[in-house]
Amino acid sequence: MAVDLLLGLQWGDEGKGKIVDVLTANYDIIARFQGGPNAGHTLEFDGIKHVLRTIPSGIFHETATNVIGNGVVIDPVVFKKELDGLAKFDIDIHKKLIISRKAHLILPTHRLLDAASEAAKGKAKIGSTLKGIGPTYMDKTGRNGIRVGDLELDNWKEKYRALTNKHEAMINFYNVDVQYDLQELEDEFFAAVKVLKTLQFIDSEEYLHQAQKSGKTILAEGAQGSLLDIDFGTYPFVTSSTTTAAGACTGLGVAPNKIKDVFGIFKAYTTRVGSGPFPTELFDDVGSDMARIGHEFGAVTGRPRRCGWLDLVALKYTAQVNGVTQLMMMKGDVLSGFKTLKVCTAYKYKGETISHLPYNIEPENIEPIYTDFKGWKEDLTQMTDPSQFPKELNDYIDFLEKELEIPIKIVSVGPDRTQTIHR
Ligand code: GDP
Ligand code: IMO
Ligand code: MG
Repeated sequence: MAVDLLLGLQWGDEGKGKIVDVLTANYDIIARFQGGPNAGHTLEFDGIKHVLRTIPSGIFHETATNVIGNGVVIDPVVFKKELDGLAKFDIDIHKKLIISRKAHLILPTHRLLDAASEAAKGKAKIGSTLKGIGPTYMDKTGRNGIRVGDLELDNWKEKYRALTNKHEAMINFYNVDVQYDLQELEDEFFAAVKVLKTLQFIDSEEYLHQAQKSGKTILAEGAQGSLLDIDFGTYPFVTSSTTTAAGACTGLGVAPNKIKDVFGIFKAYTTRVGSGPFPTELFDDVGSDMARIGHEFGAVTGRPRRCGWLDLVALKYTAQVNGVTQLMMMKGDVLSGFKTLKVCTAYKYKGETISHLPYNIEPENIEPIYTDFKGWKEDLTQMTDPSQFPKELNDYIDFLEKELEIPIKIVSVGPDRTQTIHR
C-alpha cells in the first residue's frame, strides 16, 4: 500500500498531533520521520490533554503500531519522561512502539552545545528550544553521531566518551557562561538509556518496506513546519532537519513513488515561536487577542507564540514544495468574533508587487498586501457538520481553496478529537 504524509505548512504547532490522532483510525502504522523533542504534539480526548515529543501521535489507538524513524533524533532523558507520562494509561508500549536503529541520540553535551551556541549568538539567536537538536544533526551529517543501534554494541560508551570530550572542548571554545554538572547529567542520561534499551529496536526501513508489501497502511507524521525546513524555511531561523515531504523519504526510507496523499495542515491564522522574519505578524490588540483566545503558548517551552494573519504567499509556497493533495484548516474557532479578517495575498517587495516567497523576507524588504474578509460571530466549537458553518466562514474557506487549488478536507473547531469536521 501507499504511504500518506501529514505535515505542517507554517512555522510549526499547526495541530499535527491532533489530526494524526484523528486519522490513526484509518492506518496500521504511524511513523514519525524527523525532528526530536523540540516538537510538542498536543492531543485531547476524554477530557485529558497529552503532549507528545518523540513518540508518534498514534500511540493512544488500540491497534496502530508507532514507529520512530531513522530521521528522528532521540533524547533518552526526554523520552523516559514521555514514557513515565504514559504509564498511567493502558498502553502496551513495548508492543506498540518501535524505534529505528538508525535514529541518532541527543547526548547531554548536545543540549549544552545548543545553549552555548545560542548564548554566543546574542541578539541574533535562533530562539532554539535548547533541546540539542542542531548539534545532534550536525554530528549526524558530520559523521560523528551515536545511533540507537550503537547501544547494542559493547564499545558504545567509548564512542560516547570521545564525542563528549570533544563537545566539552567546543563548549569552552564558545567562551560563554554555560553552567553544568556533567556527572549529574550523565547519571540521568545513562539511567534513561537503560529504559530506552527495553524497547524494540528495528531496521525500520525494512520493516516499513515489508509493511507496504503486505498491504498495511502507513501515515508518516512530520514535526515542526515547512517554514522551519533547513532548506526551504526562513534560514537561518529554522530547525536542522528536512521538515518538508522529502524528509519522509530520507527519514523513513520510503521511496518517493510510494507516497500517495500529502496532508498539509495550517492554522486559519499564523503563529511563530522563536526568532526570525514573519511578514504578517501583528503587534496590536488584534494579535494579542489571537494569542489569548488561541492559547498561543509553546507546548515545549511555554514561550508566547507570535501571532498574525494568514499568509497565503507563504502557504502557496509550502503547499507547492510539499505537493500537498489535501488541506486541513485548524483553529478556525479562534477567529470567531473578529470583525474583519485579513489574508495576505501578495507582498510589496522592494517596491514591486510579487506573489511568490522571495529569498529574503526580512521586514525591511517586505510589506504584506491584504485582502479583507468579513468575520463571523458564531461560536464554531459545538458544530459538527459543514452545513452549520456561517456564510463568512464558507467565504473564507472557498477563497483559500480557490487560491491554493487544493481542497480543504478538514476544518478543526477546537482542540478535542471530536471537534473535527470533515468536508
Ligand atoms: P503540533 O505541534 O502541530 O501538534 O501543534 P501543538 O500541539 O504544538 O499546538 C496546537 C495547539 O492548538 C494545541 O494546544 C492543540 O490542543 C490546539 N488545537 C488544535 N486544533 C485546534 C482547534 O481547531 N481549535 C483550537 N482552539 N485549538 C486547537
Ligand atoms: P512542532 O512539531 C514550533 C522552532 C524554535 C526555533 C527554531 C529552531 O511542535 O510543530 P530547534 O530547537 O529546532 O533548534 O529550534 O524552530 N521550533 C518549533 N516551533 N513548533 C515546533 O515543533 C518547533 N520545533 C522547533 O522555536 O525558532
Ligand atoms: Mg507543537
